[in-house]
Amino acid sequence: MQNLGIAITGSGSAVPETFLNNQGMTELVDTSDEWITTRTGIRQRYLASCHESLTQIASAAAKQAMAMAGITAQEIDLILLATSTPDDLFGSACQIQGELGATRAVAFDLTAACSGFVFGMVTAAQYIRTGVFQNVLLIGADILSRWVDWQDRRTCVLFGDGAGAVVLQANQSDRLLGFELKSDGTQNSNLNLTYVPQCQQLTADLAVSTGNFQFISMNGKEVYKFAVQKVPEIIDKALFRAQLTVEDIDWLLLHQANQRILDAVAQRLKIPEQKVISNLASYGNTSAASIPLALDEAVREGKIQNNHIIAASGFGAGLTWGSVIFQWGK
Ligand code: COA
Repeated sequence: MQNLGIAITGSGSAVPETFLNNQGMTELVDTSDEWITTRTGIRQRYLASCHESLTQIASAAAKQAMAMAGITAQEIDLILLATSTPDDLFGSACQIQGELGATRAVAFDLTAACSGFVFGMVTAAQYIRTGVFQNVLLIGADILSRWVDWQDRRTCVLFGDGAGAVVLQANQSDRLLGFELKSDGTQNSNLNLTYVPQCQQLTADLAVSTGNFQFISMNGKEVYKFAVQKVPEIIDKALFRAQLTVEDIDWLLLHQANQRILDAVAQRLKIPEQKVISNLASYGNTSAASIPLALDEAVREGKIQNNHIIAASGFGAGLTWGSVIFQWGK
């Protein structure tokens, strides 16, 4: 009989070598450790130097995840890279495939900003459920520092760089218990990284656009309201699909954007703070990397154990948001 269930069997994570703490931030913009800590919970963030690439940190996270799953690169059928900041705008998943020597794997990028990892998990699951692929490597990685305006104190204090990865495998019992995904492009302007065209006249009749991407732009208050309202709703829906209730959850694993968002969502769902995974004090908002990074840390610390039920939710630019309910291990 074919195994059409899904198990999440390994995790890994990696960050750049150097971090910048809130005190260091005060040398860049008019801010304070007190403001950043009380408004966001963030104390430091890792930032990629100009010699570090997304491919490098993503590959490092992927190697750890494959080692934990007990699987070799040659056994991987599909590599999905959730990122908004590839080294190559054509995609970086193939660069990672080359770096890992995953010769059998097909590889492509998936962009859904800070929801990318959750969207990626659901995408990976479809290939496994249909019997097309058995072993999928899903990586969430971002180097947002490349696109942050380092003179804008409203955004630059929030973000950090990093990578996290998981291995999803075909399994007899299905450990992906439920999910729900959403998008709302009408709110795109609340958080974006837009291409700004610059006209270049090619012929008398034709001007093409050879512009550039600008910095991350964000309406913090609107994004905050969106997250606090939509995330509890979507977790409820994913739980409904899994035929579970909030009481069944062992861990709430949210995109690590802001401690106040984590607290407000947990409060609305009536989930006690001991069940909320939080590591954003050390990493800031690492976009598509934040959920697998926090997952990997919690697994390696022995917090998340075999059979634990995790409610994960990503939210961010697009706007996009989503939730997956899964059980850790085989
Ligand atoms: N240091 C010091 N002061 C700062 C600051 C900083 N880093 N950033 C903003 N301020 C100032 C503002 O200029 C403003 O001053 P003013 O009243 O004189 O104009 C004041 O602090 C309050 O700004 P405001 O934007 O109202 O703060 P806030 O309470 O909404 O907190 C965020 C700002 C960004 C922390 C909050 O809105 C938030 O977390 N939003 C969600 C963002 C997010 O998670 N985005 C990613 C989602 S994937």
